[in-house]
Amino acid sequence: HQNERESLYIALDYARKFYQEQLLETDEGQSIGLSYFRERGFNNPTIAKFELGYSPDSWDAFTKKALQQQFRLDVLEKAGLSIRRDLDDRPDGRVFDRFRARVIFPIHNLSGKVIAFGARTLKTDKNQPKYLNSPETEVYHKSNSLYGLYQAKNAIRGEEVAYLVEGYTDVISLHQAGIANVVASSGTSLTVEQIRLIGRFTQNITVLYDGDAAGIKASLRGLDLILEEGLNVKLCTFPEGEDPDSYVRKIGGEAFKAYVRQHAVDFIRFKAEVLLQDAGNDPFRRAGVIREMVDSISRIPDAITRQVFFQQTARLMDLPEETLIYEANKKLRDRA
Ligand code: UTP
Ligand code: MN
Ligand code: MN
Ligand code: MN
Ligand code: MN
Repeated sequence: HQNERESLYIALDYARKFYQEQLLETDEGQSIGLSYFRERGFNNPTIAKFELGYSPDSWDAFTKKALQQQFRLDVLEKAGLSIRRDLDDRPDGRVFDRFRARVIFPIHNLSGKVIAFGARTLKTDKNQPKYLNSPETEVYHKSNSLYGLYQAKNAIRGEEVAYLVEGYTDVISLHQAGIANVVASSGTSLTVEQIRLIGRFTQNITVLYDGDAAGIKASLRGLDLILEEGLNVKLCTFPEGEDPDSYVRKIGGEAFKAYVRQHAVDFIRFKAEVLLQDAGNDPFRRAGVIREMVDSISRIPDAITRQVFFQQTARLMDLPEETLIYEANKKLRDRA
């Protein structure tokens, strides 16, 4: 088992090098991949720091080269790098590269080993997914890895807060702008394992999801999970259509930091801003929003922290605290 994992790490590192060479040292990689990264504003140190690469527009360039280097096909498959298509279960089915004609974002584990890749298409047609990611493998479990944590961990300890973003390019652009305490959940909804991973470095998470309906929905889902794990959560929204990557490129690192300082709010104010707006003056819907707030508070394990948020909510919504506590206790009994 240990040997098998080791052989996957070696294949993944070989692939990482292959994609980097393709990006930096081939005409195709330079004219397509590198110019794409340039257009996105990534400079050379950033490209090197995140070990970005390019997979050529070929069915099997990588697999062929790796086989020539004596890598075993079953290892390449188990690493998620090569795919064997068993045509009607004939064993001579074609073998091809998983990642083709895409820019490559290696995903590292906490010790800096490459465990997977994210790969972005350069085409605009909607027939293929924008990002293709490695499958689950012996060394890559999507639900307990966080993109950028290896590069961010010291900064997270230093700043005493982790910024949680949605995407690869959000992490990278923020780094380049001098904001290094940032990790991405990479499109999957946040998991308990990911939160515990962050919890090894800080107790404070600020969620910076995209400024669209999907980002708000994901923020609402994520915040309850963070509260349940006993971590402190703040949330910051961005103008419609902006994500941290686009916004930091627009306004710069210092202004971005100031924006987050000014706009990050605790979950009660976040729910108030997001949900209360829709409810308007409808008393039933306002009651529903208050129940939503109580639901979140009741997830906090620490009784003192719960009490503080009951007080805050009571003041904000002009209700007696006892009513909120009564409802919360009912919920806790239901869940038990
Ligand atoms: P977004 O759609 O917000 O992409 O998805 P993005 O990060 O802003 O990327 P650009 O700026 O268009 O290049 C957020 C994250 O969700 C995952 C990726 O990790 C992405 O970074 N995702 C998105 C996928 O895995 N597959 C997809 O098809 C789309
Ligand atoms: Mn395992
Ligand atoms: Mn999005
Ligand atoms: Mn983006
Ligand atoms: Mn985005």
